[in-house]
Amino acid sequence: MIVVAGVPGTGKSLVGSRVARLLLRRFTTLSWIVLEKGLWTGYDADRRSFIADYDRLVREIRYYQDYVVETHWLEPFETILDAIEAVVVTRCNPLVLLERLQRRGWPPAKIAENVEAELVGVVAAEARRLVDKGVPVVEIDTTQMDPDDAAKLVVDMIGRGVSRCCIDWLSVLEGDELGFLLEKLSSLGGAPLHERRGSAEAG
Ligand SMILES: Nc1ncnc2c1ncn2[C@@H]1O[C@H](COP(=O)(O)OP(=O)(O)OP(=O)(O)O)[C@@H](O)[C@H]1O
Ligand SMILES: [Mg+2]
Repeated sequence: MIVVAGVPGTGKSLVGSRVARLLLRRFTTLSWIVLEKGLWTGYDADRRSFIADYDRLVREIRYYQDYVVETHWLEPFETILDAIEAVVVTRCNPLVLLERLQRRGWPPAKIAENVEAELVGVVAAEARRLVDKGVPVVEIDTTQMDPDDAAKLVVDMIGRGVSRCCIDWLSVLEGDELGFLLEKLSSLGGAPLHERRGSAEAG
């Protein structure tokens, strides 16, 4: 299995589906697996997301060993590391991610939470921990890169079994850009990060 992880809007679907095509694999998303197999215990209307049935989910994802699987939640995959060939982490400049998510018409707090998660690199940090456990982890910046070029680069890195990291937006962004972004995030509002795990996006 190749896992394509990243904050919503960072380009998992665009890049992941192309990686699957290049490798002649099938592509799916964790959210779709949850919905298709009914692996949820409830629906969180505020987050517009289903609450995953974790125990059933970790049993089910093993059957997707030959797939490229998109997720913004890595935890379930940590239970099947032996089945994972590589983790790809899509990254996007938070200023651009803000624009991408605003185009989706999401609730402001949900936009803020996800931009903040990308700013501090929540998913990337989780993925990097897997390198020590023998899983190659490839970070790819989709901010400006063409999705086809990104997919080719990813396939090349996976083929060579090498890892690639570590994008740090806090050091990439200029002081005034960071100031603008933090002001924007606080005006949009958002819940603490720890309240956000274990959910699958609806739709
Ligand atoms: N490499 C890229 N180059 C240019 N634009 C991109 C790129 N990747 C993504 N985008 C833009 O970002 C949007 C979101 O991409 P995509 O749907 O692939 O993200 P995602 O991570 O799968 O999001 P979700 O978690 O909600 O499924 C796309 O509609 C596209 O406009
Ligand atoms: Mg997607």
